[in-house]
Amino acid sequence: MRRHSSRKRILVTGGAGFLGSHLCERLVAEGHDVLCGDNFFTGTKGNIAHLIGSPNFELMRHDVTFPLYVEVDEIYNLACPASPVHYQFDPVQTTKTSVHGAINMLGLAKRVKAKILQASTSEVYGNPEVHPQTESYWGHVNPIGIRSCYDEGKRCAETLFLTTIANTTFASR
Ligand SMILES: NC(=O)c1ccc[n+]([C@@H]2O[C@H](COP(=O)([O-])OP(=O)(O)OC[C@H]3O[C@@H](n4cnc5c(N)ncnc54)[C@H](O)[C@@H]3O)[C@@H](O)[C@H]2O)c1
Repeated sequence: MRRHSSRKRILVTGGAGFLGSHLCERLVAEGHDVLCGDNFFTGTKGNIAHLIGSPNFELMRHDVTFPLYVEVDEIYNLACPASPVHYQFDPVQTTKTSVHGAINMLGLAKRVKAKILQASTSEVYGNPEVHPQTESYWGHVNPIGIRSCYDEGKRCAETLFLTTIANTTFASR
């Protein structure tokens, strides 16, 4: 079956979360084929319940720390617990989600030549000494603090994106 050229196959990791569920909703409404991947650590099926049954929406239980082989045109990599109470629950898993998740999603993007977006965070600046922070500011980050599993994981993900793909978009700072 021929696909309409503007209709894309889009993977949203963390698609059952707060931001991801709204993104899925928007992309489905625009007519794209949306594949929502989530391990439901903080996200819920309830967040995307209204999309289940839509012919251009597919829900998949998947942890981004494991490789994924799907054919897509675009990837939004949002998978990662965002609030301290959640990301501090299992700091090693949080770090793996950012680092292994970035490696796996970048690998997928490279294989299928997909455009990829990484959800970063202003926490990459740590406790900044410069306000407002610009792209040239590297941050003031504690590598052994209670937030480091999140901050350093996201920083490493930025490194991976920068070194893997030249034209990468960073979002959610
Ligand atoms: N909400 C904000 O204000 C904010 C600010 C800056 C950055 N961000 C980033 O945006 C993204 C989404 O944030 P959110 O507020 O929607 O958080 P959220 O916790 O609501 O959503 C994160 C989603 O990722 C899923 N997830 C977690 N670990 C996973 C894994 N290993 N594999 C697959 N899925 C996994 C969770 O189940 C959840 O559905 C995160 O990457 C976060 O760091 C959010």
